[in-house]
Amino acid sequence: MTLASAPGKAILLGEHAVVYGRPAIAVPVWEVAAQAEVLDDPGAPPGSFWLEAPAIELAGDLAALDPAHPLPRIVLDTLHAIGMEKPAPLRLCVTSTIPIASGLGSGAAVSVAIARALSQHLGVPLDPAQISALAFAVERIHHGTPSGIDNTVVAYGQPVYFCRDKPPAPFRVGAPLCLVLGDTGVPVSTSVAVGGVRERRRLHPVTYEARFDAIGALVEEGRERIEAGLPAELGNLMSRNHALLQEIGVSSAALDSLVQAALETGAWGAKLSGAGLGGTMLALAPPERQEAIGQALLRAGAVQILATQVGS
Ligand code: PMV
Repeated sequence: MTLASAPGKAILLGEHAVVYGRPAIAVPVWEVAAQAEVLDDPGAPPGSFWLEAPAIELAGDLAALDPAHPLPRIVLDTLHAIGMEKPAPLRLCVTSTIPIASGLGSGAAVSVAIARALSQHLGVPLDPAQISALAFAVERIHHGTPSGIDNTVVAYGQPVYFCRDKPPAPFRVGAPLCLVLGDTGVPVSTSVAVGGVRERRRLHPVTYEARFDAIGALVEEGRERIEAGLPAELGNLMSRNHALLQEIGVSSAALDSLVQAALETGAWGAKLSGAGLGGTMLALAPPERQEAIGQALLRAGAVQILATQVGS
């Protein structure tokens, strides 16, 4: 039996602009995870591959499932990548504690956990770059024009400075970052949010490119502040990033009120995280305020909060 897991993710700085070639910084959130379990199934007929994901009521033999669905797709692509299209009978079960459609990267995490567990079980473990590439191919089917940041941070499982079409750059976290995530409970459609930005950029290219440049500059500054161990300054950059995300039309009243509640409770900064229009926001907390900020988010309407720490 082989078990593998993959974390959720949050974007500290740079979402949306990252689709247009600017950098972004994302971190894994290990408090939630997807898990895949692969078992040999010696009693099953040759060629059978049972795939199960109870949370989305998917269960069946691989050959009978829609190959365009993300789960069969990542299984087929992984088997192809390791050159074992017809393995001995197997059972694969995937579970996840990452809320779906909340901007926490659940789709990427499920793909990464499956590719990792399956390749390990079959004795051809893939490295993070290969797993990330497989998960990216699945994201492309379902999200149209993803930048690749979700699959990258989830496959590497560490903070990444990311530019599309480039390998992620590792960086030092100079002082631990205490984050509090608040889920609005409003489902996000990444393709709707990204499509809306694409349409507005088509209508106002100069304004939108300037906003993307401004976000990219915040990311560069943010990386320096993270490496230098200056979280209060990073928080300020995150709040400025949120203002730019409001300007490009991807915030919402629910996200704004959670951001406001975090700032009023002493957060160093706060912003939406991910595609926006719903989903999750993220606050950078002084360690002694982390608990109070979580409580304030719940009072302001968050349906779930998560606290995580980046760096030791
Ligand atoms: O799908 P989400 O909510 O994790 O958002 C991903 C980040 C975006 O920049 C909005 C899209 C992308 O592909 O980078």
